[in-house]
Amino acid sequence: MATNLRTTGERHQFCSLQGRGALVTGASGGIGLAIVERLAECGVNVCIVARRVEKLNELKEKLETEYPDVTIFPLQLDVSKTSEEEMLKIPEKVPFQVDILVNNAGLALGTEAVDTNSISDAMTVVNTNIMGVVAFTRAFASGMRERDRGHIVNISSIAGHEAYIGGSIYCATKHAVDAFTRSARHDLRNSKVRVSSVSPGAVRTDFTMTRFKGDVDAEAALYRGFDPMIAEDVADQVIYALSRPMRTQVCDIISLANAQSAARDIHRGD
Ligand SMILES: NC(=O)c1ccc[n+]([C@@H]2O[C@H](COP(=O)([O-])OP(=O)(O)OC[C@H]3O[C@@H](n4cnc5c(N)ncnc54)[C@H](OP(=O)(O)O)[C@@H]3O)[C@@H](O)[C@H]2O)c1
Repeated sequence: MATNLRTTGERHQFCSLQGRGALVTGASGGIGLAIVERLAECGVNVCIVARRVEKLNELKEKLETEYPDVTIFPLQLDVSKTSEEEMLKIPEKVPFQVDILVNNAGLALGTEAVDTNSISDAMTVVNTNIMGVVAFTRAFASGMRERDRGHIVNISSIAGHEAYIGGSIYCATKHAVDAFTRSARHDLRNSKVRVSSVSPGAVRTDFTMTRFKGDVDAEAALYRGFDPMIAEDVADQVIYALSRPMRTQVCDIISLANAQSAARDIHRGD
């Protein structure tokens, strides 16, 4: 007879996050910043990584005031340019053990077609979105395996599951993140280290402004007539994956805005 988990209480063995250590890339804004805020609220010490150090310092001050028991450790770094040697030294620099890695830093640049796009933009996107994830995973997964404890969460995208007009490079990188995540799960299946991805649709952050290189009208047009998700919606999904009981490994969480049925299919009620 099947055990009734409701009566044994096992159903409620959520994975506690209190006192654990995390590293979040792309923590200076948008989804990464919202994830750091939720982690700090759960009592997690967080190493926050991005290029804009002033934003990181502001976030440290805010969160350490709000949550005095939590340590926020800023690390200024370009995830697309850090050498292998520097990358492998990062775990020693962080003043606490990192057993939650959130590979979030990422971007899209432009919506040009494959016959007109900029190769230098493509290289920046590939190096950030793919090599950043590969390098941070390499730097932290070995310690996680040794300790037989850890969780890697990669922020992918609906663009990792679909291809759309003008999205060739971005979609290619997010498909790569999806494949890397699934392979990482295979590689680490003989340990207790868990690997998950979170794949959102439209979330209004600075992402689209970066993609359109500061074109305010193009950014506004993309979000016209519907309610996009906000960064906190994605942060909640990350916390959901992290807090499942150890017996469970969330593979991927795909979400869309309510008015969205695919990456570029959006009902605009205007
Ligand atoms: N917004 C969306 O609709 C959406 C949907 C699906 C998936 N995503 C994914 O979600 C992730 C976060 O995007 P977002 O929407 O939060 O965008 P965002 O608001 O533009 O934030 C991007 C973050 O990544 C950091 N970053 C970018 N390049 C970096 C580099 N080379 N080295 C270190 N940090 C870097 C930025 O910090 P600095 O500039 O300070 O370095 C910033 O903190 C990305 O992987 C994106 O692909 C976004």
